[in-house]
Parts: sequence; structure tokens; C-alpha cells
Amino acid sequence: MEQQDKQSAVVIGASGGIGAAIVAALREEGAFATVHALARTAPDENHLDLEDESSIAAAAARIARGPAPGLVIVATGLLHDGERGPEKSLRDLDPAWLARNFAVNAIGPALVAKHFLPIMPRSGRSVFAVLSARVGSISDNKLGGWYGYRASKAALNMLIRTLAIEEKRRNDRAIVVALHPGTVDTDLSRPFQGNVRPGTLFTPDRAALQLLDTIDALRPPDSGKLFDYEGIEVAP
Ligand SMILES: NC(=O)c1ccc[n+]([C@@H]2O[C@H](COP(=O)([O-])OP(=O)(O)OC[C@H]3O[C@@H](n4cnc5c(N)ncnc54)[C@H](OP(=O)(O)O)[C@@H]3O)[C@@H](O)[C@H]2O)c1
Repeated sequence: MEQQDKQSAVVIGASGGIGAAIVAALREEGAFATVHALARTAPDENHLDLEDESSIAAAAARIARGPAPGLVIVATGLLHDGERGPEKSLRDLDPAWLARNFAVNAIGPALVAKHFLPIMPRSGRSVFAVLSARVGSISDNKLGGWYGYRASKAALNMLIRTLAIEEKRRNDRAIVVALHPGTVDTDLSRPFQGNVRPGTLFTPDRAALQLLDTIDALRPPDSGKLFDYEGIEVAP
């Protein structure tokens, strides 16, 4: 990436399994002047709660005063919370849980885009990437279930497509993408790791490197799409 050393990188969801590993990998690489690690649980200036737009706006305003963010990665997500897990069948549908899925998995990342895309460089390469999931692919859905997570990730993928079109008018080299990290050993996947084929569960560190390699290989025509951790496009 050109001039990365004069730019900042921003990771949102830095307290998560994959988010923390991405922050560590970016700091280890040392390509950016600053790596901002934002999280709901972070104090003061690094605090960002996706369900509180003013905290997103405040974080963007602060970061805009320093080196422009050439890379923004949204590594947040919700699959289960306490007793609440993804729906096994129709009878589990609950409006409040569906709305929460959409708030965290789709609306929150879109609000991050609303406040962060305008402070990203107006020319040259920039990457705004959100962690989505293959289960948000409508054509790939052969198993059913997980209504809220699937639907909110599908909505996220559509939001990314729409954001990419608008962002291209501002900077024709900007890349706005969704990424599927694979199955990664984190709190999010832990209750569901029973069915994972041996050898296909990544550590967060490995997942972070695979995602950063995927991002490095992206080109402007890739904007608006969903890619997996090997850089292969996932059909909508
Ligand atoms: N792990 C997998 O196998 C897998 C597979 C496919 C896709 N993904 C996707 O990868 C992304 C990262 O997942 P992960 O495995 O790293 O999960 P994780 O360890 O559970 O991390 C989730 C992160 O999201 C944050 N978050 C949740 N609600 C938030 C809110 N309202 N405001 C701000 N932050 C919020 C959490 O913050 P707190 O610490 O404050 O809760 C945490 O930092 C998600 O989008 C997930 O859907 C993961």
C-alpha cells in the first residue's frame, strides 16, 4: 500500500478474538503510523459502541485530527449473548433478538461507514473492510436456521455493495468489502465448534494474517464484494 507509513489504521471490535489479533498483527507489521484499537469496553478516547452513534462520531472526529485512516476494519459481530443463541427453527423467532442482530451486525457497521468513509483519503488506495460471514450468502444457504445472524449478515453484504458504489464516486481507488474469516476459535464460535471438521478451525492469529493478506491482494474492481480468507469471492 502506498504511503501507509503516513496513514493510520483503525480496528473496531479490538476486544474480540479476531479484532485483537488484527491489531497485534498490524502493530507487528509496523506499516501504519498509528493503529487505533477501538472497542465497546475500551475507556475514554478508544470507546466505541455500535449501538450508540454519538460514540462512533466522536471516535471518527478524534481520529480525523491525526494521520488519515487508509485502512478501517470492522471486526465486531453478534451470534449469541448469554442464554440467547441463534434460532434453530421458526418457533425461536423473537423480534427483539432479530432487531439486536441487525443493530450489531448490519446497522452498526453501516454507521461506522457513515462516519469513517468521509475521513478516509480522497485519492489513492484505501480499504474499508467489515467482517461478515459466508452464512450471509443467500445462494449458499442450504442448511437453514440462524435466521437473525444470516439475515443481518446478508443485509451487511448489501450495505457494503451500496456503500462501495457511493464511495467510488469520492475516490475511484477506494475498496469497500466484506470478508469471511473462516471458522475461528473465538468466543463467538465456541458453542458451535462441535461440527467443525478437524483442521479447519483457525487460531485468531492465523485468521488475522489470512485476512490481512486477503486485504493486501484486493484491487478497486473488488470493491462491493464478499471475499473469504483465501481471497476467493463468495457469491451473494
Ligand atoms: N469466529 C468465527 O468462526 C467467525 C466465523 C464467521 C464470521 N465471523 C465474524 O467475524 C467477526 C469477529 O468475530 P469474533 O469471532 O472475533 O467474535 P468475538 O470474539 O465474539 O468478538 C466480537 C466483537 O464484537 C464486539 N461487539 C459486539 N457488540 C458490539 C457493540 N454493540 N459495539 C461495539 N462492539 C461490539 C465485541 O465487543 P465486546 O468485547 O465489548 O463484547 C467483540 O469485540 C464477527 O463479525 C463474526 O460474525 C466469525
